[in-house]
Amino acid sequence: MGTQILMTSFSVVACVFLSFAPPVSGEILHEFITLDWEWPNDTTRQQYIDSGDFVPELCQISGIEVDTIRDFYSASEIRSRIFVTVPKMRSVKGVPAGLNTVHKNETSNESFLRPYPNWEWQKQGDCSALQFPMSMAMDPNTGYLYVIDVGRVGVTTSNADNSCPPKLVVFDTRRSNDAILSYVFPDSVVSATSNFLNDITLDYVDPEAGNRVRYAYITDTFDKQIVVFDFSTNTSWSFQDLNSMGTDGDRNITIQGTTYTMDFAVNGISLSSSFNYLYYSSVGSRKLFQVPTWVLRKEKSDFSKYVRLVGTKKSNSDAIIFGHRNLYFGALAYDAVYRWDLVEDLNLQGVSEGEVTIQTQLPLAQNWETMQWVDGMTIGFDNQLYFITERAQLFHTGTMDFSGKQGANFRIFTYPIADKSYLSLPKAGHDSVIVG
Ligand SMILES: *[C@@H]1O[C@H](CO)[C@@H](O)[C@H](O)[C@H]1NC(C)=O
Ligand SMILES: *[C@@H]1O[C@H](CO)[C@@H](O)[C@H](O)[C@H]1NC(C)=O
Ligand SMILES: *[C@@H]1O[C@H](CO)[C@@H](O)[C@H](O)[C@H]1NC(C)=O
Ligand SMILES: *[C@@H]1O[C@H](CO)[C@@H](O)[C@H](O)[C@H]1NC(C)=O
Ligand SMILES: *[C@@H]1O[C@H](CO)[C@@H](O)[C@H](O)[C@H]1NC(C)=O
Repeated sequence: MGTQILMTSFSVVACVFLSFAPPVSGEILHEFITLDWEWPNDTTRQQYIDSGDFVPELCQISGIEVDTIRDFYSASEIRSRIFVTVPKMRSVKGVPAGLNTVHKNETSNESFLRPYPNWEWQKQGDCSALQFPMSMAMDPNTGYLYVIDVGRVGVTTSNADNSCPPKLVVFDTRRSNDAILSYVFPDSVVSATSNFLNDITLDYVDPEAGNRVRYAYITDTFDKQIVVFDFSTNTSWSFQDLNSMGTDGDRNITIQGTTYTMDFAVNGISLSSSFNYLYYSSVGSRKLFQVPTWVLRKEKSDFSKYVRLVGTKKSNSDAIIFGHRNLYFGALAYDAVYRWDLVEDLNLQGVSEGEVTIQTQLPLAQNWETMQWVDGMTIGFDNQLYFITERAQLFHTGTMDFSGKQGANFRIFTYPIADKSYLSLPKAGHDSVIVG
């Protein structure tokens, strides 16, 4: 299973890293030409295909989270569980399970998905189950998985099904695998008929004072807003700002000679490890914006007054994620992952985080074939950056080759980085785990 593969590949990387220090290279943990699931039996799989509930050409992985736990009985071993989402954007039917863990068949070396926490939670039309889980955020300190469910399905088609409302669901992945919270957004905050909740980041408020998640910040791509959820009161509110949450002249992205117009608004979102600023970006723009978290935490703030343009990224990106040092993002026109070195720029510019601008942008990984459209990203306690590549420019234009002639379409990579998750606490003692 995935766990064993991971441990093996990790120790190889660690050894190489320590002994020879060559340019750091990553690993492909999983790859897929088409997605497939672990089914109760072949009959069920065939029934899903016959009824149109499983159409492989409509299935794409997008979001990723990992739970990386150190095995305290064997200090060198790391256990990882990888979660992925399979969005229901392009049609109302065809995706059998939206939230999944990833595993490997040891016999065939093929990767497959297993519905998380089970098949019951994937029942479409049952509004208490997950409908369209788009993205997740893992709290590495508790193993709680925060999942945003758009509610609507087929959202990029002309006949979206709006039967279920949007919600935020939290699973306890280390103990019960049950939901410990399921919050339905009121229509006045997130519209049940037009939303596209897209990405989520978590706020402890004070990293020194403990690790309880106090707020979640969520982008809503279609209604161009940032939604705030307050866990201490179970209430939500939202902010709109057209200048920073829309698209601009950079919405045309050229990938390997073909230009795609990607008119998708606010999407990637991440807090930095200071918990003082939230950063976000639209797919149809290269601009990165910042807003102080004190503004978000107050329901009636003058959001637009405090938004600041931090700079222009190397290229358009989808998901983004902060470590303690860098912001990691896909550079879609370059089939690459880049990092903005925030710490370097703070030092070079001699300013505070509220004034810093993007100067130091460096490539972390690049491959024109295997890294087309970098999407979901996360940083494990193993100090690895995990990310998904998904060829979304082909998937969304119906031009993806599922025959295998163009190789795998979806991949899960892991790269060792000299950094740790923005949610990794300064005093938590998780830092000493690995390399060094
Ligand atoms: C198994 O699959 C992985 C990618 O998922 C690949 O990197 C590896 O080379 C494969 N191993 C074998 C023995 O084919
Ligand atoms: C296949 O699995 C389904 C769901 O668990 C079950 O209802 C059905 O009886 C099984 N069919 C066979 C032939 O085993
Ligand atoms: C694993 O692969 C073998 C050989 O291809 C196959 O018989 C088996 O059903 C697969 N198991 C799963 C869970 O997909
Ligand atoms: C919020 O919801 C959770 C889960 O339903 C519940 O345990 C908690 O008591 C609620 N908090 C408040 C302040 O209502
Ligand atoms: C983007 O591409 C479209 C279609 O090719 C074109 O009409 C439009 O002028 C382009 N916009 C920009 C800002 O380059």
